[in-house]
Amino acid sequence: MDSILRVDGGKPLNGEIFVRGAKNFVPKAMVASLLGSTPSKLRNVPQIRDVDVVSELLSLHGVHINFDQGAGVLDLNPKNVEIAHVADIDALAGSSRIPILFCGPLLHRLGEAFIPDLGGCNIGGRPIDFHLDTLRSFGANVIKEDNGIRITADKGLRGTQVHLPFPSVGATEQTLLTAVMADGLTELTGAAIEPEIMDLINVLQKMGAIMSVDTDRTIRIEGVKELTGFTHTALPDRIEAASWASAALATHGDIYVRGAHQPDMTTFLNTFRKVGGAFAIDDEGIRFWHPGGELKPIVLETNVHPGFMTDWQQPLVVALTQASGLSILHETVYENRLGFTRALREMGANIQVYRECLGGLRCRFGQRNFNHSAVISGPTPLHGANITVPDLRGGFSYLIAALAAEGESIVHGIDVISRGYEHFLNKLARLDAQVERG
Ligand code: UD1
Repeated sequence: MDSILRVDGGKPLNGEIFVRGAKNFVPKAMVASLLGSTPSKLRNVPQIRDVDVVSELLSLHGVHINFDQGAGVLDLNPKNVEIAHVADIDALAGSSRIPILFCGPLLHRLGEAFIPDLGGCNIGGRPIDFHLDTLRSFGANVIKEDNGIRITADKGLRGTQVHLPFPSVGATEQTLLTAVMADGLTELTGAAIEPEIMDLINVLQKMGAIMSVDTDRTIRIEGVKELTGFTHTALPDRIEAASWASAALATHGDIYVRGAHQPDMTTFLNTFRKVGGAFAIDDEGIRFWHPGGELKPIVLETNVHPGFMTDWQQPLVVALTQASGLSILHETVYENRLGFTRALREMGANIQVYRECLGGLRCRFGQRNFNHSAVISGPTPLHGANITVPDLRGGFSYLIAALAAEGESIVHGIDVISRGYEHFLNKLARLDAQVERG
């Protein structure tokens, strides 16, 4: 059923909200609990759809789960891990991308795994070739079936050399979750080093893993025979924090994001300041606000960490429509992440997309048929419109646009946003947003 939000925009968002653990970390730590011989405890867990999906999939594999939602504490007991029924797993097909990370842990625990067809945002082809090549190099057999993939490892998994052609977050996590209990040494080169991956490494080390991270994207892992459970507090969600920061800027508002963590947001904060946004950091969080005056245009290139994160791009673009002059955007992580600009144009924004690599870097998508660069010309007043959420981050950027626009907007498909933004409707209410569910 369509989930609709009526937004009466053109008013600043003011107030305080709280962000909990990172969507791009919590589900992975939950998967890691499968590797332990004893229970694990994860704190700072948000109530988001991806946590529900991974909980369901873990439960189907015999993990006993207790989620104290108010406290944000998740207890996971993997003592009775068992093979799940394909039909049950299939019911979760298309709901998330996390299930692919079950491969290594299930191979170690059960010698086989069945992974349903994946979901997640439609922002590019999002292949899983790196994942499957990596699993094969550990000695796994990978068989494509009608509704998913079956993976077996009759002779166990052996440490290996993995080189990633692009520092993929998911494929790095796949390698870590598989290597920690594989027989012998694994050397991963070309690894992604996002803060969420570093926190997964923290978790695995607490469980008994032996791993080292070099400055040149090389991670070495010495396989061990047994891992135990962990107790861990998830790092805060830097994407959610940056999204609310962009909302403050685009609506001329002032939002204190309790839980926002400066060290994971350095690149975002630099950019926010260059655009003309103001922020103040204290021990508990970060206050973001529009200080008045004109916003400045920028040249923005998304990249893997420590670059400007691709998930920060869509919310910030809405604020860039209000900057005075030409901003240039070059998306280098996903080939198809600018489709959301179409609705912004309908709302009055002046945005042109290009196949060429604009900005400094020549990326993998240059000279191919991908509209992955944009020129944003501002400031352009935005007006309300009837819009449909395209994907998670694009959806949040539509919300921001509707809140910044004069007049009423009707935003369709808002349930997608709850995949990654905990209680966003409650948070909007706390910020005095004029919104109503249709
Ligand atoms: C994760 C994040 C997502 C973020 C992205 C990049 C989660 C749940 N999601 O997604 O929010 O935008 O990292 O920071 O953590 N690729 C391949 N083959 C593969 C795997 C990836 O070609 O087997 C390509 C992708 O198509 C994409 C690029 O590598 O162009 C980066 O993808 P990846 O880093 O793997 O993203 P995810 O882990 O899916």
